[in-house]
Amino acid sequence: MAKKTLQSWQGTLAVIGVDWGDSGKGRLTDDLSARADVAARFNGGSNTGHTVENQYGKFALHIIPSGIFNQKATCLVGRNVAVDLDSLVLEMSALAKAGVSYKNLLVDEQASLVMPWHKMRDGLREKLRSAKIGTTGRGVGPAYADRTERVGLLVRDLVSSDFARKIKEEVKIQNKFYDLKLNAKVIIKQYQTYRIKVKDFVGKSIPIIRQAQKEKKNILFEGAQGYFLDIDAGTYPYVTSSNPGVVGIARSFDIHPSEINNVVGITKAYTTRVGEGPMPTKISGEVGRKIIDVGNEVGTTTGRERAVGWLDLVLIMEAARANKLKALAVTKLDVLTNISKLKLCISYKLNRKSTDYIGHDAEFLSKVKPVYEEVGGWTQDISSIRSFTDLPKNAQVYIKKIEEFAKVPVKFISVGPKRGEVIYK
Ligand code: GDP
Ligand code: IMO
Ligand code: MG
Repeated sequence: MAKKTLQSWQGTLAVIGVDWGDSGKGRLTDDLSARADVAARFNGGSNTGHTVENQYGKFALHIIPSGIFNQKATCLVGRNVAVDLDSLVLEMSALAKAGVSYKNLLVDEQASLVMPWHKMRDGLREKLRSAKIGTTGRGVGPAYADRTERVGLLVRDLVSSDFARKIKEEVKIQNKFYDLKLNAKVIIKQYQTYRIKVKDFVGKSIPIIRQAQKEKKNILFEGAQGYFLDIDAGTYPYVTSSNPGVVGIARSFDIHPSEINNVVGITKAYTTRVGEGPMPTKISGEVGRKIIDVGNEVGTTTGRERAVGWLDLVLIMEAARANKLKALAVTKLDVLTNISKLKLCISYKLNRKSTDYIGHDAEFLSKVKPVYEEVGGWTQDISSIRSFTDLPKNAQVYIKKIEEFAKVPVKFISVGPKRGEVIYK
């Protein structure tokens, strides 16, 4: 990957967030998807909000892979995705309205369904907890919990002949356990309409992946969230309930990480976080406000404002190591224009001693002190630049510092939200 550009990628390529989500995975996947024969989502549910802006319009995708705009690619929703049908059918109709066919979509029959009781339990749990996680309220945690407990309904149940009986039985149990006062008849009626819309898109994803591998086709894996929201490696309990790193690909598609030729880590040119949980490099005051406003740092799924911070290279170094990144994509570089001094967090100190990242430990991250390197800013509008050497000198230095510390080449720099507003390095 050192000499090649991402524009001519081939083989298997994974897009992995190296942060706390919302790095621009939707737009990167859309930008790369022209070469994909298969585009596959492997984790998360409708907590995800992947924004894509291209010639068809602007879309917020939650369940459908962002490769859907390439009509030649088979688009898979893997078995470890928590499938929210409320969201899926809305996305289908938004695409249809824009004239985008989704006939190439396939949802794995073994994926878990997110049901109304999961959303209710998500909301209730958050309301009752004193230390809130700040979930998206999309029922994703409870749906994965039921899968782990082996009691959740699957997509294949939706298309089975006794779906109504299964819902009825589950509603009885949920009402008993959680006192939710659910009405089985109402839910069955709603899900019967979903079943009609979705049934032709249900199937087995793994044979498609196997065949594509055999034929050496190009497979693009799209992660949701970011590595530091990983249930195991992230800042527990302020995490999501799936694996946004390469491990998540194996959980959906039975593929060993060594079979993935190119793992591309994606981050904004600064760090953001939405929901609760520590963030060592958080910026408050005027500069923070400016980045939120210029970057429009408002969550795609929940509309909550995201906290912003200086780019945390300690996190990126850890994500690069654990996911064997071959390249980095840096988005929203345009947002940093007109900030006179930029900072990069190059290490952490804990009790005045240097420390590496420790996973699964939010308390650790709340105590570390960031060590910064300062870089000068730039004032030139960079949004129409398409070549690295045309960037202002300080913007080039900023990117080179990222490469120097992360020890991963930056191969994609975006300077605007739309398809093609990109520098391939
Ligand atoms: P994802 O969840 O990783 O797909 O990211 P989101 O879509 O939730 O958030 C990224 C936001 O940044 C979206 O609103 C994008 O339209 C926007 N965006 C992506 N890349 C760029 C860029 O290079 N410049 C600017 N200004 N906005 C961008
Ligand atoms: P994309 O794919 C940003 C965060 C929530 C919360 C925590 C747990 O768009 O990058 P959950 O609903 O998953 O139980 O919430 O995880 N979170 C995200 N933050 N982007 C996402 O997805 C996220 N998905 C979950 O804000 O802090
Ligand atoms: Mg998002």
